[in-house]
Amino acid sequence: MRLRSSLLLTFALCAAVPAVRAGTVASIDSPGKVLRVELDLHEGRLGYRVRRFGEPVIDTSALGFMLRGSGKLERNLALAGQDTRSVDATWEQPWGERRFVRDRHNELRATFTETIAPGRSFDMVFRVFDDGIGFRYEIHASGGEAGASAAEWVIDDELTEFAVHQPADTAPPTAWWIPAGEWNRYEYLYQRTPLVEVTMAHTPLTLRTADGLHLAFHEAALVDYSGMWLRRVEGGRLRAQLAPASEGWKVKRRLPFHTPWRTVQIADTAAALYESSDLVLNLNEPNRLGDTGWFEPAKYVGIWWSLHLETETWASGPKHGATTANAKRYIDFAAANGFRGVLVEGWNPGWDGQWFGNGYDFDFTRATPDFDIQALSAYAGERGVHLVGHHETGCAASHYEAQMAEAFAMNARLGIDAVKTGYVCDAGGMERRLADGSIAREWHDGQWSSNHHLRVVEAAARQRIAINTHEPIKDTGLRRTWPNWVTREGARGMEYGAWGQPPNPPEHEANLFFTRMLSGPMDYTPGILSLQGRGQPIETTLAKQLALYVVLYSPLQMAADLPGHYAQHMDAFQFIRDVPADWAETRVLAGEVGDFVVVARRDRTGDDWYLGAVTDEHGRLLEVPLSFLEPGRRYLAQVYRDGTDAHWRDAPFSFQRESVEVGSADILPLRLAAGGGQAIRFVAREP
Ligand code: NOJ
Ligand code: CA
Repeated sequence: MRLRSSLLLTFALCAAVPAVRAGTVASIDSPGKVLRVELDLHEGRLGYRVRRFGEPVIDTSALGFMLRGSGKLERNLALAGQDTRSVDATWEQPWGERRFVRDRHNELRATFTETIAPGRSFDMVFRVFDDGIGFRYEIHASGGEAGASAAEWVIDDELTEFAVHQPADTAPPTAWWIPAGEWNRYEYLYQRTPLVEVTMAHTPLTLRTADGLHLAFHEAALVDYSGMWLRRVEGGRLRAQLAPASEGWKVKRRLPFHTPWRTVQIADTAAALYESSDLVLNLNEPNRLGDTGWFEPAKYVGIWWSLHLETETWASGPKHGATTANAKRYIDFAAANGFRGVLVEGWNPGWDGQWFGNGYDFDFTRATPDFDIQALSAYAGERGVHLVGHHETGCAASHYEAQMAEAFAMNARLGIDAVKTGYVCDAGGMERRLADGSIAREWHDGQWSSNHHLRVVEAAARQRIAINTHEPIKDTGLRRTWPNWVTREGARGMEYGAWGQPPNPPEHEANLFFTRMLSGPMDYTPGILSLQGRGQPIETTLAKQLALYVVLYSPLQMAADLPGHYAQHMDAFQFIRDVPADWAETRVLAGEVGDFVVVARRDRTGDDWYLGAVTDEHGRLLEVPLSFLEPGRRYLAQVYRDGTDAHWRDAPFSFQRESVEVGSADILPLRLAAGGGQAIRFVAREP
């Protein structure tokens, strides 16, 4: 239903609802009247604010642009019209944390025009859900005269603000964040600081206010635009700062165009904050690839951890990991244990020199002489296993683009239907070859990179190949539109347990869940049951490694340890064999940002439920109502828990496996050791 409402009608309607503030020119409530967005024109200057149950959450915050050539677009604006509409629809995900996603929001579209020359015009579109908002700018074709020609905009920055409301006599909100604009892309430990100590942060940026409200700032549908960083300006005011482009501006677009959605998730609890992430998917366009049923969520193993332990090498030579014999061993192991994929890194030429930030020697269409890719693909195929491709670019992204069509075609011929890509170099080092052959360097999250990734994903889709990006651009829910962009890294993964200085501390995953994971799946590569990195321990218990399979969602989920290490922990390994990588439902049962989380997910292809719980450096005793189980049905709970003396530092291997009959009326005590966790499979009995 589309409601066309004149200004007059809007004011008439407003008389019936709570009073709007002076200066408010348009407003919209969420469907359940939880949130309200008000658009404000103060002496021609546009802003928005957000209330929750009538209380301010986001104070009046600026909207606008800094444009090259014609300066700021922020003042001298007039409302030219507005529309509202309501949506309540449910759509099905081909794979995901849940099968069905409900999209229930009210939309306000307000048109603004400059009252002075050059008379640019644009729509502000707000979508207001009960648990958050999204808004974007839609620039009209007549919005020109900035930049080189009237038909395009050259954006020096966006002036979008998020002014977090802070009542006078309360403690400042707490923020969980990683720095943006720094050399290591997204691979930082999450800092927990008062909001006033945030400098420049990546999104999602998570906040908890003094009265316990949880907020997360992020964006949805980042296409042909720069990633948004958040710079704290003063007090609780955050300002968008777009990732730079090599040309010196941030974004260049032909008119008309629209920006990505700027999102604010707002929830009472940390658990509800995670659940509210559906709005990021809802703000993305529907599937544009047609039937992608050929992508099968699955677990994989690989010649990988040995490389990070340095017992084998990517480079050729006596320790080369990617040999035919070694890969056969992994294929046999995968076949014996029900893993669909075998990743092999170092399979192709290009690894022998200094490839970090310098991937010009990489060839993605040929294997090294000691890796018989034809024979191995056949060998894998006979056993129901697929090789997983690996395209490390060393950031030679244009060099990669020149080869990718041929590389994906070769992959498809060999039954390789998932490829892990990689962009190892310092942030800002993405190679972009210009038309004259010269090279420019771009940010991993700049406009050029946002387009590069979609070129890769579309080329892969043409060959029915799924992409798992490492050193990626952040996830903004594009998997809805391109369902073969299945997972990515974009945070400190398990590899930091091998060599990270410092390694990932016990609180890391409880941070990730409420920050990075709000944006989408992560290829964290869990399951290091040896609990041993390169001369340093992994800072978790054994049971926690299992819990990560449920907690950190990825439709391609790695069993990252060496086969020989799994052989030493067959009892724990059973959980990794059993756990699925695709879910019908997800419930966050409990959690606090950076402290702990308990998640239950139901298998997409069966009735079994799985539970994962992880904690930080503190042990915890929790009581979990099993009300998510089907009422009246009995389940055999196969419990993988920390032993009574378990501790991530002193007794990480202390571990207990037991089974107990349960039903939905039961309350299960969960005892998590310091740095520990628990994993449970609830096997559904016949109804
Ligand atoms: C970094 C990736 O995160 C890691 O998984 C991979 O092994 C190396 N790059 C080499 O490509
Ligand atoms: Ca990495």
